[in-house]
Amino acid sequence: MKRVDRLRIRHDDEIAKLMETEAGQAEYWRRLDDECHQSPLIWLLEESLELEGDVIECGVYRGGSTRLMGRRMRDLAPGKPLFACDSFEGFPQDRILDADLGPFRFRFKIRRKFRHAMDVPGRLIAFFDTYRVNGHVVKGFFSETLPRMRRRKYCFMFIDCDIYESHLDCLNVLYDQLVPGGIVVFDDYAEPKWPGASRAVDEFFADQPVKPEQLMLGRKSVWFVRKPQAEQQPAEIYEPLLLKRA
Ligand SMILES: C[S@@+](CC[C@H](N)C(=O)[O-])C[C@H]1O[C@@H](n2cnc3c(N)ncnc32)[C@H](O)[C@@H]1O
Repeated sequence: MKRVDRLRIRHDDEIAKLMETEAGQAEYWRRLDDECHQSPLIWLLEESLELEGDVIECGVYRGGSTRLMGRRMRDLAPGKPLFACDSFEGFPQDRILDADLGPFRFRFKIRRKFRHAMDVPGRLIAFFDTYRVNGHVVKGFFSETLPRMRRRKYCFMFIDCDIYESHLDCLNVLYDQLVPGGIVVFDDYAEPKWPGASRAVDEFFADQPVKPEQLMLGRKSVWFVRKPQAEQQPAEIYEPLLLKRA
């Protein structure tokens, strides 16, 4: 296991320890609130929570952003479901393309990333229970899990899955389910380390009326798309239908 993974797990163990007491739970809740105030992701989430539909995150890893979103949703939209989707065992190994390899990046190294997360579903469920967040863990590769999520409507999607094919797995299935005015945030767009992300997003939106925009909050920024309101259909499309019905 790499040092960075060991540190992340140690950090999660410290949080679990903190949450063993009521005072610790209150302290952790307060820390998350502080983090929310500095997060452009949460700023955009807040804007979309009044719309109908659920919230979905594709790419959870150790649940850092899931906990932040859950924190804010508990305050502003406590009943709204939050779906946290990940394999919790890293990327689908055969779907990392040449297009995903940024400068000095190697496929064999990328294959090893994010594999140490098998303990995360249990930790997230404990977090949801403790703070009464309406959160749900969806474990598995997107190509299998997301088609089962396509009957729901979403007001907010956070796509943080790094590689080309994973982005398309998400957008192809879920974008139609985003309500008008809903927001999709891309963590890896315009990120030189993950060239496949920008490529997938640009291809997907090439024939759409919207393009990714950047939101800056202090030194942090995110890229997002806000789905336009449905355009009024021109009258001539409706007329023949009305005439037929009469
Ligand atoms: C950068 S991490 C997510 C980080 C997290 N959002 C955060 O802010 O802490 C990317 C995650 O995407 C997941 N992932 C990528 N492609 C996937 C796919 N096709 N199916 C399921 N999970 C996938 C990986 O397992 C990894 O945990």
